[in-house]
Amino acid sequence: MFQSLRWLFLLTYLLVMSAIFGASSTAIYIFFSRSLEQQLNDRLQILAEAAIPSLRIIKSRGIQRLDDELPWQELFRHNQSLEWFNPKGKLLAKEGKFFANSSLSQALVDGLQEGFPILQQQGQVRTFSIAVYTEDRDKTTLRLEGYIRASESTQDLIWKLDQLRSGLIVGGVTVLLLSSISGIGLTWLTLQPMQRNLRRLKHFTGDVAHELRNPLTAISTTVDLLRNSPEELSLTQVRKLAIIDRANEQIIHLVEDLLFLSRANIASDRLDRDFNFAPIRLEELLQDLVERFEPQAQSKQIQFTPHLRTGIVVKGDSHKLSRLFSNLLDNALKYTTDGGRVALFLEQEQRFAVIRIEDTGIGIPPDSLPLIFQRFWRADAAKSEKDGLGLGLAIAQAIVQQHKGEIKVSSRLGAGSSFRVLLPLDAQA
Ligand SMILES: Nc1ncnc2c1ncn2[C@@H]1O[C@H](COP(=O)(O)OP(=O)(O)OP(=O)(O)O)[C@@H](O)[C@H]1O
Ligand SMILES: [Mg+2]
Repeated sequence: MFQSLRWLFLLTYLLVMSAIFGASSTAIYIFFSRSLEQQLNDRLQILAEAAIPSLRIIKSRGIQRLDDELPWQELFRHNQSLEWFNPKGKLLAKEGKFFANSSLSQALVDGLQEGFPILQQQGQVRTFSIAVYTEDRDKTTLRLEGYIRASESTQDLIWKLDQLRSGLIVGGVTVLLLSSISGIGLTWLTLQPMQRNLRRLKHFTGDVAHELRNPLTAISTTVDLLRNSPEELSLTQVRKLAIIDRANEQIIHLVEDLLFLSRANIASDRLDRDFNFAPIRLEELLQDLVERFEPQAQSKQIQFTPHLRTGIVVKGDSHKLSRLFSNLLDNALKYTTDGGRVALFLEQEQRFAVIRIEDTGIGIPPDSLPLIFQRFWRADAAKSEKDGLGLGLAIAQAIVQQHKGEIKVSSRLGAGSSFRVLLPLDAQA
């Protein structure tokens, strides 16, 4: 139980950590990439606007006459370029290394003439184009001087984003690795006290049950002694003693079942599982049980038929296996009405011994089937009519698990039930 809990804790912890880191990395990436893009666009806009005065100089005197003091030259970076166009979109001059591979298209020219700058990405080059106007002498009309296109290679931006991505991936893997290590430690630290307390509780239940057994047996013996000398007692006293005896028997039964379950729990917690397993001929073990239960079947006129294949050997604890099948047979006979049928089958399927106990009894409602192996669970019909504690199947399941087997049930309300137990065959037999 704790092993799976440990994995569940660790997995949840790692999932939460991955989700947190994934979300924060994405946020960081988006924030940085947007801010780098914005910086690039701002740089291009400043460069294009700073170069406006140079368009008139180029138009009148050519590129060679550009004044060294013009502000765009200070802004010019090695991965940027500038292009000057006349009002028809014809290239007049260009400066720099990285250019967009197309000239100004008519659509772009039309767009620029509407007065807004146009930002474009062409391959690995980002461009920012503007139209340049000057006022006429009359100062009332604007005259189109031409266009300026500032470009910058986005290789640098892509490289920075790649670096950021790699950094985040390496960081993420490191964080997850460290989280796994700390997660293992954390789950161990969290579960350790719980595991210790549960183990103590199981021992405590076992000890209490064990200590209760002696006084209960003493009561039972004393009551037996008293009942064996009825001449000293009145009839009412004898009846009351019988009631005490029955109640005492029930408590002894409960204590023994609890003791068995708590021992089974403690044993399943131990890694070595030091069970005393020996080869067992199932046919012989089941035949003994058939003889034991025959009188119970006859008293209810139940047709009880065994179909036992010979030569099937499993490795196990005969006392426990007897207990497992007697719990199942007891249920079959108890929950089958007078005149019904109970059949016991022993067969072999591949590497498993298959034991089936079928009855034509009251059956189990489908929604209750997942509950029947829980401790103290009893169907309403069983509670109102039959004696029992609701521990028989929990014990049966614990024994099957100790033998690395499987127990399954199918049932139809009012028609009957079938319990099927699979036990691995003894490999050496
Ligand atoms: N063969 C069966 N037919 C119908 N109902 C069954 C059958 N076997 C088990 N059940 C249902 O499952 C419940 C649990 O069975 P379980 O053997 O654990 O307890 P119990 O028989 O009530 O008491 P006890 O502890 O004495 O065995 C029963 O109370 C009954 O409702
Ligand atoms: Mg039972």
